Amino acid sequence: MLLRLEDWLKDATAALSTVAEQPRAEARRLIEYVCDWDTVHQISEPGALLTREQFEILNSLLARRNAEEPLSRILGRREFWGLDLSIRGATLDPRADTETLIELVLDTLGSNPPEKILDLGTGSGAILLALLSEYPAAQGLGIDQSAKTLDAAATNAAALGLAPRAQFAMGDWMNGLTERFDLIVSNPPYIPTKDLRNLKRNVRAFDDTLALDGGEDGLSFYRRTLEAAGNHLKPGGMLGLELGIDQQADVIEIAEALGWTLAGQRTDLGGVPRALVFVTDA
Ligand SMILES: C[S@@+](CC[C@H](N)C(=O)[O-])C[C@H]1O[C@@H](n2cnc3c(N)ncnc32)[C@H](O)[C@@H]1O
Repeated sequence: MLLRLEDWLKDATAALSTVAEQPRAEARRLIEYVCDWDTVHQISEPGALLTREQFEILNSLLARRNAEEPLSRILGRREFWGLDLSIRGATLDPRADTETLIELVLDTLGSNPPEKILDLGTGSGAILLALLSEYPAAQGLGIDQSAKTLDAAATNAAALGLAPRAQFAMGDWMNGLTERFDLIVSNPPYIPTKDLRNLKRNVRAFDDTLALDGGEDGLSFYRRTLEAAGNHLKPGGMLGLELGIDQQADVIEIAEALGWTLAGQRTDLGGVPRALVFVTDA
């Protein structure tokens, strides 16, 4: 059976309209993924015929998307800070909100580039790789508890030509770490445990619980980080943290009680306080 591209595109756009903000663009991305036809080709050849195999694969992916699986999970790719990242398996799908932390770090450091960067809970390596792409003389270490996630991060570093400057290691946060860094960054798990079951299906069903669970009040990784990070910063070093919703005041309170000084803050595009940077004299 053969079907015209424009007919599948029309049906898929209608089918995706309840789950996708940009249903036609998503339908075109699926066609590109399955048929290797870019948007220019799709627009110039609307009557191109799909093979039976292409049609069946497209429909199976459409069904997954309609069951609220994020497009990035289906494609196994996510663009972050202009970098194309692989996010297969349990690796957290990096969010656009996390770019707020990158912006804040770049603004705060200005013309003082860090030489050594530590990324706690590195996941796909998104934060570390974005910073290494901005600081061409920097070296970085990404730590995660998940071996599969570390594989994805190393694959991403290699694909982006950043592998010579990026190391990845399995670990339990900063336990056992002896080095010191100019910059420590983290987007920690920050969802309170009791809220995990109320997350939307597109998060709950596709992101690994260990990447999300921030303990009873959602703040346990902030406490761990703020208690230990001072021992792993060089003099004059800086700590940058992404925040969950409504966590800014609590995180600042914990930090100041431990001797940190707030050096900058930034809201995301939705107006949510999303990133903080701290310095310490300790
Ligand atoms: C919210 S995700 C952030 C991933 C990535 N940095 C990003 O922004 O897309 C938190 C990450 O912390 C990792 N993680 C959770 N508990 C950990 C622990 N005890 N030690 C090291 N990494 C941990 C998870 O595997 C996950 O990759």
